[in-house]
Amino acid sequence: MSAAMAAPALAVEAIGLQKRFGEIQAVDGIDLALAPGRIYGLLGPNGSGKTTLIRLLTGLARATGGEARILGTKMPSRPMLAQIGYMPQAEAIYPDLSVGENLTFFARLEGKSDPAAIDRVLDLVELAGRKGTPALELSGGMRRRLSLACTLVHEPKVLFLDEPTVGVDPALRVQFWTHFRRLAAAGTTILVASHVMDEADRCDELVFVRNGKVIGRGTGAELRSNAGTDNLEAAFLILSGLDPEGRPLDGGAAA
Ligand SMILES: Nc1ncnc2c1ncn2[C@@H]1O[C@H](COP(=O)(O)OP(=O)(O)OP(=O)(O)O)[C@@H](O)[C@H]1O
Ligand SMILES: [Mg+2]
Repeated sequence: MSAAMAAPALAVEAIGLQKRFGEIQAVDGIDLALAPGRIYGLLGPNGSGKTTLIRLLTGLARATGGEARILGTKMPSRPMLAQIGYMPQAEAIYPDLSVGENLTFFARLEGKSDPAAIDRVLDLVELAGRKGTPALELSGGMRRRLSLACTLVHEPKVLFLDEPTVGVDPALRVQFWTHFRRLAAAGTTILVASHVMDEADRCDELVFVRNGKVIGRGTGAELRSNAGTDNLEAAFLILSGLDPEGRPLDGGAAA
């Protein structure tokens, strides 16, 4: 980017974004405006459209309506991929390659070949001692850690993390969040899908989705106050039209 170009005011935008799979409207007209250097939490039940929304924002899936922009550029856009880090819900690492080879591969995909960058992410995910281990010989949590390292190795400006800490032990989970916070302080924008409420509380803002639609957004404090509860999980149920046991309040209309 030339110095004369002003930095875009928004890191991530969705405008009336839609994705239909046959009869299923997985993303149903979502508008988003995510500011640089903030951590946003994406919360919603299984099948509510979180992963599909992330895939639309990264340009990996094509919208059936509306549009997505990253740093002001309409997606999909191949050049923008260098600015994006995407940690998928299902790991996208190569089982036959070693830890170090996976990282080298993902770094080179985006034109980076700094061995120091590889060592930095290996330290972060505590896999420095496993650099030569084939990925298929890692434990489940270690594979998750390698997947995060592959997402970060090209030092992207916008990060999409789809349930990044599933299977990661509590101590390392805290370290991941410390690192996410550090990245955000340095200007990285992070959208993280999660079902873990204490993680949600670490986000600057939350977006609640249900049936492909945004049903609430704001800080954790704002959402609790809107729902009239001091518990985030309860706030989500109330905003979803569900009772504290997760049953529809109106006798069945909420799918
Ligand atoms: N490739 C696909 N083809 C058809 N339907 C799909 C496809 N991908 C997702 N869907 C459907 O779209 C809806 C939203 O799925 P999505 O994976 O986005 O949900 P999610 O919020 O990420 O759920 P989870 O919390 O379980 O990860 C679901 O009904 C799902 O079955
Ligand atoms: Mg998902």
